[in-house]
Amino acid sequence: MRIFLDTANVEHIRHGVRLGVVTGVTTNPSLVSKEGKVDYRKLVEEICAIVPGPVSTEVLGQDVKTMVTEAREIAKWADNVVVKIPASLEGVEATSVLAKENIKVNFTLCFTLNQALLAAEAGARFISPFVGRLDDIGEDGMSVVADIVEYLDYYQLPAQVIAASIRHPQHCLMAARVGAHIATVPYEVLLQMMRHPLTDIGIQRFRDDWNKTMGRGESL
Ligand code: E4P
Repeated sequence: MRIFLDTANVEHIRHGVRLGVVTGVTTNPSLVSKEGKVDYRKLVEEICAIVPGPVSTEVLGQDVKTMVTEAREIAKWADNVVVKIPASLEGVEATSVLAKENIKVNFTLCFTLNQALLAAEAGARFISPFVGRLDDIGEDGMSVVADIVEYLDYYQLPAQVIAASIRHPQHCLMAARVGAHIATVPYEVLLQMMRHPLTDIGIQRFRDDWNKTMGRGESL
């Protein structure tokens, strides 16, 4: 399972890419506005230049014509840009139009297998079920991810599933277990994925034992 960062924060993205584990980014209007009043195009271009893989960024329009116009514009910003289109009937229609023009679509705000089914038929390259938001209302977000993965696999459809709205490291594990192609994670979750108290204790103990016999040394 590939790891994308769910953020528009350039420093966090640089760090994730430096680690060698982040191969893509997803943003949305809320994440972009968290960065302050920015030049949207410049920010996305900067992110696209840092990240080796797909960078999803969302349209704001809600009718087909506006979504298509915005998507065509966004698609010019970088080779690795992917346009996020929300799960609505207008979104499906826009996705069909854009897919025919070879513009890559990430079908976002997806909460059901039926929405995903239509997105896949319309030609979306990525489908993003929002796990955390489903869990928040007492549904089982990860089972929707599992259903979509199974559906795409059964019919040998090329769309990839991005497990989105990830809230904690357990979500990542579960996404990997159900076969999501990608998990898009907030920066804090990426950091948490590597943390374990026994690792910290182990490192300290090795260092203390070494120092007792060999004397203090910060490195070899
Ligand atoms: C995914 O592409 C979205 O940007 C994101 O995962 C939404 O997550 P949230 O529910 O934490 O806002």
